[in-house]
Amino acid sequence: MLFRQLFEPVSSTYTYLLGCEETGQAILIDAVLPTWQRDLGVLASLNLKLVYTLDTHIHADHITAAMKLRSEVASRIAHPAIDALPCADVPVMEGTPLMIGTIRVDPLFTPGHTDGHHAYQIGERVLTGDALLIESCGRTDFQNGSAKTLYHSIHGKLFALPDDTLVYPGHDYEGRWVSSIAQEKQRNPRLGNDRPLDEFVAIMDGLDLAYPKFIDFAVPGNRACGECPAGVPDNLMQYCEQIGESRQG
Ligand SMILES: [Fe+2]
Repeated sequence: MLFRQLFEPVSSTYTYLLGCEETGQAILIDAVLPTWQRDLGVLASLNLKLVYTLDTHIHADHITAAMKLRSEVASRIAHPAIDALPCADVPVMEGTPLMIGTIRVDPLFTPGHTDGHHAYQIGERVLTGDALLIESCGRTDFQNGSAKTLYHSIHGKLFALPDDTLVYPGHDYEGRWVSSIAQEKQRNPRLGNDRPLDEFVAIMDGLDLAYPKFIDFAVPGNRACGECPAGVPDNLMQYCEQIGESRQG
């Protein structure tokens, strides 16, 4: 399997490329609109054909490149079935692996950050989206999030994986790239060291985070599989534009 971890700097998002060396088929997980052309360049350099895009959840901090990539290269949009997006082509759910050539992606239903969030296990790796981050976790104060639900998702689904499973998060804001289940069980300040549920809920309730600046545009845009909605103000247009693209006027 070819594996690439790609960074999108506007929202500090990791996009994951998985490529099957036998069939040349590939998938992008959590592709982001400003870097769609960069991602196609990486696929071309590896002689891979994009057959699917897939998202971990309906993002609030960026717009998915799923629709743009489908229009450019006819990839199919895979998305958690629970979100019931009319624009999705392939519903994914826990218990039904998604195959990309010989690569098997196992969805893990991990709600709590959003109510439809899924992580994806690929052999010895798990892409944890915004459920489990390196020494952190996703916030739980919007999109039907729930600290209690997230705690049970992380303990029941992610911490249940083998200790040496590599943890690839959906974001990192401090230049960290990869962790492991063993390391998060031990070091994660919110969840590690067998921290009990009530302490975790108190930590999450006490975060007092600012309202996300792009959420009112990102959520409707992502419910449409990646359309930049009307009315995005100038200071947020960087989320809709390709990186390196210069605007007129
Ligand atoms: Fe998120």
